[in-house]
Amino acid sequence: MKKLDMLYEGKAKKVYKTDQSDRYIIEYKDDATAFNGLKKGTIADKGIVNNTMSAYLFEALEAEGIPTHFVSRLDDRNMLVKSVEIVPIEVLVRNVAAGSLSKRLGLAEGTRLPMTVLEFCYKNDELGDPIINEYHIEAMKMATPQEVERIKEMALMINDILAERFAQAGIRLVDFKLEFGRCDGQIVLADEISPDTCRLWDIQTDEKLDKDRFRRDLGKVEESYHQVLERIMGGR
Ligand code: TMP
Ligand code: ASP
Repeated sequence: MKKLDMLYEGKAKKVYKTDQSDRYIIEYKDDATAFNGLKKGTIADKGIVNNTMSAYLFEALEAEGIPTHFVSRLDDRNMLVKSVEIVPIEVLVRNVAAGSLSKRLGLAEGTRLPMTVLEFCYKNDELGDPIINEYHIEAMKMATPQEVERIKEMALMINDILAERFAQAGIRLVDFKLEFGRCDGQIVLADEISPDTCRLWDIQTDEKLDKDRFRRDLGKVEESYHQVLERIMGGR
């Protein structure tokens, strides 16, 4: 599969056309940003960790019946995906209060939520990805109510599958962000699943093993990304 023109460069990934119109190549970068691009830096080998981990988890989810955009991992930093139309919504899945939820609702970080909480944000950097609800989504035609139902169902199924996998690796899945796309008339999981897009805490110590180490200047950033990959993939 040939990598052709770059279609889009995001903060952490580049998307390329290929010689097949229904396939794109995603290249994962080491660039890291936080707070809507205000904080910038590099996390060595992040692209390799995020590509490898996403490929592994997309395959695991596919095996459990979740359709994804993933086709194959090409090399360290590149994966082949189906070309999808991205639904302009970020879906946040929360099991434990942290980050913006803790701030907004005054809940101490680490407070266990008695049920999984889903939130939606409008994927728009200029507006700072504002939080929205299902009325905004329908009124602004971001997705149909049927699509939102499917997205919610898939997000909760993905949470169950991932939370169990991470728990087996001694990691608590605190919260994470998902993006979905449209492909051949169905909703598929897209984007990535990595320490950039999840909050992952050690089950025993609550040590943070994700991008919060970069956002909050906690040190051991690279080490934590590698540790997560090593723990979930083991010898694979
Ligand atoms: P938040 O608490 O800052 O809203 O973040 C919730 C989860 O979403 C957390 O796991 C980090 C992830 N996330 C992203 O992947 N991209 C983003 O732009 C933001 C703000 C959060
Ligand atoms: N990557 C996002 C940004 O630069 C946010 C984050 O992950 O904190 O805004």
